[in-house]
Amino acid sequence: MARLKVAVLISGSGTNLQALIDACAAPDFPAEITKVISNRPNAGGIARAERAGIAVQVIDHKTFADRRAFDAALDDALRASDIELVCLAGFMRLLTEEFVNRWHDRLINIHPSLLPSFKGLHAAGQAVAAGVRITGCTVHFVRAEMDSGPIIVQAAVPVKSSDTEESLQARIQRAEHLCYPQALKLIAEGRVQVAGEKARVKDDGFAEDNRLINPT
Ligand code: GRF
Repeated sequence: MARLKVAVLISGSGTNLQALIDACAAPDFPAEITKVISNRPNAGGIARAERAGIAVQVIDHKTFADRRAFDAALDDALRASDIELVCLAGFMRLLTEEFVNRWHDRLINIHPSLLPSFKGLHAAGQAVAAGVRITGCTVHFVRAEMDSGPIIVQAAVPVKSSDTEESLQARIQRAEHLCYPQALKLIAEGRVQVAGEKARVKDDGFAEDNRLINPT
């Protein structure tokens, strides 16, 4: 079976990239990462890709006149590598509507909250400030509006009264590392379909009484 050809776009430490690399290492995983692109020359994730033998390209946004020119270079790089799906993994650049539309339903992102709550930066800090008992993470198809788009996978994560943004972010990230590979697998298996701006997952495992109550 041909594996789905995936590119991962990063700006930082790349722990989600690592989770995707580890999942793709299984011989029966239906996707492979054939390219990693970083917009920052010193992103920690670059070494993770190199260690895994994946081609890395740095496309430094600072060397482009504007967002459109940068996105055009991104698009060229992805097309040159016959990429079928793009995963944003801590990629800290807003993408133009033109780019997002070109990759419609072939571009996914992970965000550290239960969207549509807590969009934007510092989602874990926003959750702590709001005093919610449960937050989580979301893998979703990307639309032009930031942190919106059909939701593929979510995980619920409990918030402790003593949590800081940092401690909560670390707990959310551990959930992210499970959710992102799972979302990629579902897409690569052809089990995710978008209709009416909602993602439907075929044969999704579902437990009626699967509740997370916090505090216990
Ligand atoms: C993650 O928390 C992700 O949700 C957000 O940026 C962070 C990236 O972390 N979009 P890493 O680079 O994957 O470690």
